[in-house]
Amino acid sequence: MCNKNNFLAAIEGNDHEKVPVWFMRQAGRYLPKYHELRKNRSIMEITLDPNTVEEISYLPVNEIGVDASIIFSDILLPVETMGFTLHYEDGKGPMISNSVLSGQNSKIMDYEPAADPYLPVEAVRLFKSRHPSTPLIGFCGGPVTVASYLIKGESDGDLAATRSLMYRKPDVYRRILRHVTDAMILLLKSQISAGCDVVQIFDSWAGSMSRDQFQQYRENFLSDIFTELGSSRSIYFSTSSWHLVDQLKELGATFLSMDWRSDLSSLIGVVRSGTGLQGNLDPVLSQSGSQACETETRRIVDSMLDQDGYIFNLGHGVLPGTDPGTLRDIVNIVHSYSR
Ligand code: CP3
Repeated sequence: MCNKNNFLAAIEGNDHEKVPVWFMRQAGRYLPKYHELRKNRSIMEITLDPNTVEEISYLPVNEIGVDASIIFSDILLPVETMGFTLHYEDGKGPMISNSVLSGQNSKIMDYEPAADPYLPVEAVRLFKSRHPSTPLIGFCGGPVTVASYLIKGESDGDLAATRSLMYRKPDVYRRILRHVTDAMILLLKSQISAGCDVVQIFDSWAGSMSRDQFQQYRENFLSDIFTELGSSRSIYFSTSSWHLVDQLKELGATFLSMDWRSDLSSLIGVVRSGTGLQGNLDPVLSQSGSQACETETRRIVDSMLDQDGYIFNLGHGVLPGTDPGTLRDIVNIVHSYSR
């Protein structure tokens, strides 16, 4: 049995024996039980039902053996409360019909947690009352990642539409970023008040910014999140962001989570003292045969044993169709290490 508190020990910077591990799922489509619980309901219907949200959130702890759960929600659900119309399309992901570029949205509304039916506070309370010793991760999207969906209306992974707006209409870009940043702060605070032990900021597309663009973004928006979080524990996740490492170090996040493109161990001793590191197995490897996956899992853990505050994770989310057995094997390998 794994020690469920090794995740919190790592987050809190205490000595711990076992390396903790958890996975971002983007809905847990790899778990048959998820499909059963979901039936024919959309994510938007499910998130209005705290009992089902709680149950889905706990599944990976029960079935895979990870050391922490992430609450079941999505980074885009809060935008409905800001006046955007969201739906999820199979194969395409989230779509916003009245995006900024569609010209159909003249005004972004202030985010009001009390008016957001999808805010998972009741589910967080239920989870912590049913599983008090399981660490629970709350989350939000990074401001530029959420803003990119508001601007383009769908995934803008290389931020082409977002950067174009930044050049053409800097005032509009800044106004959107301000709104979204303030919303994300309220969202995180609500989840922490409800009982989340740590929050993760998923800034998946931030790595598509130049160093100068990221610096402006960090100084004017992103840093506000960490200032407002104060002593609450946080993890900042981004992808393709190796060129930004010297700036990521300055954010004030408790942990930095890097994708598989990065050499995570080269950050040991480089990040500020007390900053933890999370990552970074290539999710594709968990679908590429067990030998290659085991070799790389061991290489990563071996290379991170000298890091105080380390959480094993994929370099992005679990891909749909991944065999749960492979994920269980990864967890067992990581837990076989003693420090
Ligand atoms: O691990 C978890 O399940 C926690 C919940 C979670 C979801 N989305 C559920 C989800 C988390 C942490 C996210 C984060 C998220 N969502 C990000 C940041 C991380 C990343 O993947 O880069 C982004 C960019 C989104 C936006 C989003 N939502 C996309 C791009 C998609 C399509 C994904 C795909 O592979 O098709 C979604 C769909 C989504 N995310 C759903 C849920 C419950 C609906 C999936 C479904 O229909 O079952």
